[in-house]
Amino acid sequence: MHRSDPKFQGRIVHVNLGRRSYPIYIGSHILPDFGPFFTQNCPSKHAIVVTDDNVKPIYAEMLLNSLAEQNLESHLVSVPPGESSKQMAVLEHLYDKMFDFAAERSDCVIALGGGVIGDLAGFLAATFKRGLNFVQVPTSLLAMVDSSIGGKTGINHPRGKNMIGSFYQPKMVFADTDTLKTLPPRELGCGLAETVKHAIIRDAGFFATLEQNTQAVTTLQKNTLIDLVERNCQIKAAVVSADEHEAGLRGILNLGHTVGHAIETTLKNLDFHHGEAVSLGIVAALRLALSRKLLDERSAQKILLLLQKLQLPTHIQGPINSADLYQAMLQDKKVKHGKINFVLPTGIGSCDFINDLSEPEILTAVDSLTQPAT
Ligand code: NAD
Ligand code: GLY
Repeated sequence: MHRSDPKFQGRIVHVNLGRRSYPIYIGSHILPDFGPFFTQNCPSKHAIVVTDDNVKPIYAEMLLNSLAEQNLESHLVSVPPGESSKQMAVLEHLYDKMFDFAAERSDCVIALGGGVIGDLAGFLAATFKRGLNFVQVPTSLLAMVDSSIGGKTGINHPRGKNMIGSFYQPKMVFADTDTLKTLPPRELGCGLAETVKHAIIRDAGFFATLEQNTQAVTTLQKNTLIDLVERNCQIKAAVVSADEHEAGLRGILNLGHTVGHAIETTLKNLDFHHGEAVSLGIVAALRLALSRKLLDERSAQKILLLLQKLQLPTHIQGPINSADLYQAMLQDKKVKHGKINFVLPTGIGSCDFINDLSEPEILTAVDSLTQPAT
């Protein structure tokens, strides 16, 4: 899965999906060298770069110059930053721009930004003219460790998160960890929530490394960051390579997301970002696992402590309507025959699917989020 490429001074992780396989390039200050790797992995001669208004002034020129050096034509389109851009009106605006740019099927959509841009631009690429080439250039930690890998693309519906979408794999992922220097600390935390998720479900050793290196991670030590992004990519690539369309195993990547997505959908006024909602969802999953005696108290404490050390939310201040949250959970994509399918940790490094939790058990766990976690 992981081999070195003579021309690339960084790490490469491979997502193995037969004809849809692709490399993830990870390195420091690699964005100026994007062009040759684009040419190597994507046959397009014309690119449409989709970004947001925060990322555009910092990184768009570097990317466009690198494409121009390879004699590739490009167009740039930017949308407002934030989750609210993952909506139909913004997607329609992007379809219009594709007509303005005379985009053809052989062209490539490049997502330059965080997970919002990756999901939105990926769905644009999947659907315009029934599919163009697609490349991910993640610039947030969350996008580097999670959303740019695995081909889940889409937008939100007012009644549910990520409800309109498709599986559509990129031709490559190109992650320059230097771009994280300009990422707001709150957004770094969001990427760390998905990182803790990967460690809990798959890798006790990685969890211990995170516990020991909290300071190096939060202060963006170059080698620590590259190791961290690489390990996350290896974990996610292995799961996606085994189960691309989430027929089974891939569901474990949803630890913390059943409650997390419901929080994002119903508690918009509290403005939790995706990774923060996932952190709260992991806490709810811990409570459910403890009440079912699937997880020991000591492991639950260690997980809680790591989330807190990483400055992630572990409780919600203020009243919540847990019945509303429960209704939102019933819209979850993993609901089958009316039963919510939860991923619960069974230790550090392992988890299981549990689909027989009763409504009162779930409501109790959700209500407990309003109590400060100790
Ligand atoms: P985001 O895309 O909104 O980025 C967070 C903020 O950081 C934005 O304001 C953005 O403009 C800014 N930003 C990004 N990179 C920057 C940089 N280098 N310097 C300065 N500012 C920068 O949010 P996110 O946390 O990256 O992604 C969250 C989204 O990802 C959610 O919509 C979530 O549903 C989705 N997601 C998708 C998958 C998947 O598999 N497709 C997995 C996890 C999450
Ligand atoms: N973020 C969950 C998945 O990609 O399957």
